[in-house]
Amino acid sequence: MTASQDCPLDIVRSPAELRGRVRAWQAAGQRVALVPTMGALHAGHLALVTKGLDQADVAVASIFVNPKQFGPGEDLERYPRDEAGDAAKLAGAGCSLLYAPDVATMYPPGFASFVRVAGLPDLLCGRVRPGHFDGVATVVAKLLSAAQADVAVFGEKDWQQLAIIRRMAADLDIGTQITGCGIVRDTDGLALSSRNAYLSADERAAALALPQALIAARGAILSGLPVAAALAAGSRRLKGAGFGSIDYFELADGETLHSLGTPATGARLLAAAVIGKTRLIDNIAL
Ligand code: PAF
Repeated sequence: MTASQDCPLDIVRSPAELRGRVRAWQAAGQRVALVPTMGALHAGHLALVTKGLDQADVAVASIFVNPKQFGPGEDLERYPRDEAGDAAKLAGAGCSLLYAPDVATMYPPGFASFVRVAGLPDLLCGRVRPGHFDGVATVVAKLLSAAQADVAVFGEKDWQQLAIIRRMAADLDIGTQITGCGIVRDTDGLALSSRNAYLSADERAAALALPQALIAARGAILSGLPVAAALAAGSRRLKGAGFGSIDYFELADGETLHSLGTPATGARLLAAAVIGKTRLIDNIAL
């Protein structure tokens, strides 16, 4: 589909069309950035497009709500979808093409391959979302391989996902450079997320405890409190604010994601917790 008044952005729906368009730009000497998303776009996603355009001449976004990364009982069915609205936002951000395949195109009958990075997916979110990162690695491998873009941009809010994608791209000799983009936050500090749309007003107010607890833990560790005590205080703060299960509140190495008991260069504070029925994640550098 070419851009029109109804749809301000060209949309392609097959890997062959995507590859053809990217190849044509590259043949004309232009660098292409790919921005993979699941849609329901917010300013955080548009920052990925901007970052892509810092490093390339043309930005291409993909929207695909990937069933393979949702576990049983997760929010696959109710995940927000708004292709027309997303296309308008992408066009406004300077994106040149949207790749929006359907499930049958991505996973046709007989599809039988999985990409699994060893180790990293078993930590942090992987402990409570078994198989999630295999679904992510599989779909991202497919998107990178179809597009063969020069650069691909992923948000740092899902720090573990970014670490896994970097590992996979390096291990599989994928020629696309993987770039992270800093977290975009609301004015009060809550990291933007498509899932914030699920929060009631009360939950939205309470959710602010997540970035605040991370910042407080960083301050405590940097002023000499033992890491374990700072992390326990962070978890207590989340509980006190009304979070239900706290999946983790950890200090970890930014690359290996291994837990750290003492501060170290490249360390990251990461947390995931559930407020109401919504699971939120966030992280900050130490
Ligand atoms: O971060 C996301 O939006 C998704 O996990 C991704 C990388 C687009 C894969 O489906």
